[in-house]
This record gives sequence, C-alpha cells and structure tokens, in this order.
Amino acid sequence: MGDRSLTEEAWAAFEKSIIEYQGQPVGTIAACDPDIVALNYDQCFVRDFFPSALLFLIKNRPEIVQNFLEVTLKLQPKTGQLDCLKPSRGLMPASFKIACQHGQEYLKADFGDHAIGRVAPADSGLWWILLLRAYVISSGDTDLVRREDFQEGIRLILELCLVTRFDMYPMVLVPDGASMIDRRMGLYGHPLDIQSLFYGALRASMELLIPIPQNQTIIQAVRKRLTPLLNHLREHYWIDPERLNVIYRFRVEEYGEEVLNQFNIYSDSIPFYRLAKWIPEAAGYLAGNLGPSQLDCRFFAIGNLMAILASLADEGQSHKILNLIELRWNDLISHMPMKLCYPALEDSDWKTVTGADPKNRPWSYHNGGSWPFLLWMLTAAAKKMDRGELAHHALAIAERRLSHDQWPEYYDGPDGRLIGKEARKYQTWTIAGYLLAKEFVHDPSHLRLITFDSVPSVPISAQ
Ligand code: GLC
Repeated sequence: MGDRSLTEEAWAAFEKSIIEYQGQPVGTIAACDPDIVALNYDQCFVRDFFPSALLFLIKNRPEIVQNFLEVTLKLQPKTGQLDCLKPSRGLMPASFKIACQHGQEYLKADFGDHAIGRVAPADSGLWWILLLRAYVISSGDTDLVRREDFQEGIRLILELCLVTRFDMYPMVLVPDGASMIDRRMGLYGHPLDIQSLFYGALRASMELLIPIPQNQTIIQAVRKRLTPLLNHLREHYWIDPERLNVIYRFRVEEYGEEVLNQFNIYSDSIPFYRLAKWIPEAAGYLAGNLGPSQLDCRFFAIGNLMAILASLADEGQSHKILNLIELRWNDLISHMPMKLCYPALEDSDWKTVTGADPKNRPWSYHNGGSWPFLLWMLTAAAKKMDRGELAHHALAIAERRLSHDQWPEYYDGPDGRLIGKEARKYQTWTIAGYLLAKEFVHDPSHLRLITFDSVPSVPISAQ
C-alpha cells in the first residue's frame, strides 16, 4: 500500500474512534474492534487519549482537547480525603464513558473501582498535566490554564503525588499496576515508568502554575522535589557497563547516611553475566524499579523514552539509551516497535511475580509483548536526539504490518511476530501512535509539545 493511502486509511479508522458528549467531541475510545466483546475498550482512557490529543493539536483541532481537559477535570474528586471507599482527592480517572439515564447523557468515570484487579491509575493525572501543557503550547490559549478550576486541578494532582507517605525517597510511591501496565508485574514501589512521567509533570507544572497565594506551598514543594528526584533517578537507576562494575563490587549491610549501597542491593540478586553480555559498551538505560534490596534490571520502554523526552536522562544517557535500542534491535524492536518491557518474566518468576497471570504469560501483553503505540514515543525521542535514522527504520517496520494486521493493540513472541493473543484490532492508540510518529518525522518542530529542555522553560505567568 502506498504511503499516502496508508495514512488515509489510518485517518479514516482514527476518526471513527471519536466520541461525543452533549453534541461535542470529548475523546476517543480505546478500540473499535467489531469482532470482540468491548469490555472497557469502549471507554476513553486518559493515557490512550494522549497521542490522539497531540494529533488533534497538530491538526489544528484544539476544541476536542479542550473539551477532554474540561470533562476530565470535572470528574476529578475535590473532597473526601479520608474516605477509603471513594477515589482519592485529586485522582484522575483511568477512563470514562458516556452513559445515559432517563434520556439524559452523563459521564461515568472509572478510577480503578471497576477495573480488573481494582488498580487505581497513578499515571492519569500526570498525563493530564502533560496534555494541558501541550494544549497551551500548541493553541497559545493561556486563559484556560489560568482558570481557578484548572489551577486547583493541577494542585490536587500534585498534592496526591507529593504528600509524604511511608517513604524516604524523592520518587513517588505507588502500588503495582498503577499505570499503563495495569496488572501485577512486580512494579510496586518506585517503577521507572511512573517516575519519568512524574518528573515530566513536575516540569510542566512549574510552567503552568501561576503565583497566586493558593499555589505558593505547592510551587515551593515542586521546586524542592525536582533536583533531588532528577539526581536520584540519574544516579541510582542508571545501568551501563561502568555502573555494572560498581554495583558488582558493592559492599552490603552498610549503616548510615553516606553509604554507597544505599538500598542494600545484594550482588546475587542481579543477573550480572547476562547484563554484561547484553549491554554494549556504548549503551545504557534506566532500571525498571528501585527499592530496598531491589534493583529491577528489566528495560521498560515508556520510562526510558519519557526520560529522553523530559530531559530526565542527560544528553550522554539519552544517546546511550538510543544506542541500546539500535544495538539490541532484535531484542527491543525486531518485527514490531517496540517491546514494552524486556526481557519477559519466565517460569517461576512469572508465577510468583505476576500471580501466574495467563494474559501476561512470558512474551505476551505487558510481559515482553510489543506495543505499536510506542512508535510515537520512540520516534519523538529519536528525533529529539537527532537520530532520525532510528525513527525511519522503526516506522518502516511498523508500516509493513499494521494495516495488514488491522492495527492490533499488541504483538506476542520474543521477536514480536505474532499478533497478540487477546489483542483488540483497530486499537486507537496504535493508529494514533502511527500517525503521530509520521507527524514528528515530517515536522520535528511539533516535538515542542512533549519535550523539555535541560534548563527549565519560562512559566506562563512570565509570558
Ligand atoms: C489495557 C492496557 C492499558 C490501556 C487499556 C486501554 O488495559 O493495559 O494500559 O490503557 O488497555 O487500551
């Protein structure tokens, strides 16, 4: 199929996913697969809508993004801090749908209270803040974000993340399954995917919060958190051959403030020989999770790509992450960009860590499956670092299959050759991710919607 007709086909499928509320477009549903029971795929997910929203902004259709931001803001609970039966104050829903009662349309949100496993989304609010920033940059409309309800919305999301809990680190503490990976996968504590988004959202908030008296405390708190968070992630999550050598020879059972092995990581818990073979000399990446006696050495795509986009990884680290993708192409990309996490948990690890979850059996779905929606993040990260050839190569691979396979949600197998066992077809973020990747390649100036410089940018209040 020609380049043009492929794009046209994708656009036609994408338009079908738009949903309306009271006559106005407000979002896109997760999938339009006519052959499978919808379950909750007929809902608009906040994280899934993100690439759709960037596309709408790029195509000069900001109204739908504005409508989405407004309706989701209304769904965010503003009270009820101590009631465990209600979603927490400040939480943004994972998804919402349009329901009808007595002929009246209303919005029904899912904060995890209906979701499989009852997982509450920690990422929704962070994506929401990043989207609000993209909307302001693209449309130039600063009136919306200056509104008191929007300032309050940002504040409440941040309060939920910044509150001190049973934790002594600058990272945000979350339960397992609290993000895109919404099933048990050993991601309780401080998973990278959330930390990268958290960093991006803090950077965005510094641009979006205006210096009104109600914001003073939260602005101070964000300012205080940014540098320790950045240093902590860059130092303690980073793995490359040099760092591997340091960790290999770590002393253990050290007590006190100045120790090197702060997390008391035991050498035997880390697959050194496999990693020493796998990580090329010029490559590196941020580890998947970190906690007491735990350094999860799996590679997670969202966290690493977001770290490049948000300048959480420094310039050298960003190139090393892309080097890893380039030099370990067969493992991380192979027949479909790209692996959500690598490698898969197998055998007894799969049993104990996932709870023997058949959907997440080795090399399927979240556990080592390949997700085409990641194409937009990969393309954006590659273009940001001037590594266009990576973006082109990945796009060319995806183009060979996506339309033929009817835009699946994910692929299975160590090489991403099989269409996901339970994958939905016509998955909206697969389609939007592809179209968005094309836009970034065509005109890299759109990257400003999602990237951050290494030095903080000007707040809207100073514009
Ligand atoms: C699955 C994914 C989740 C996504 C949803 C809708 O539950 O794990 O990340 O948002 O499907 O596509």
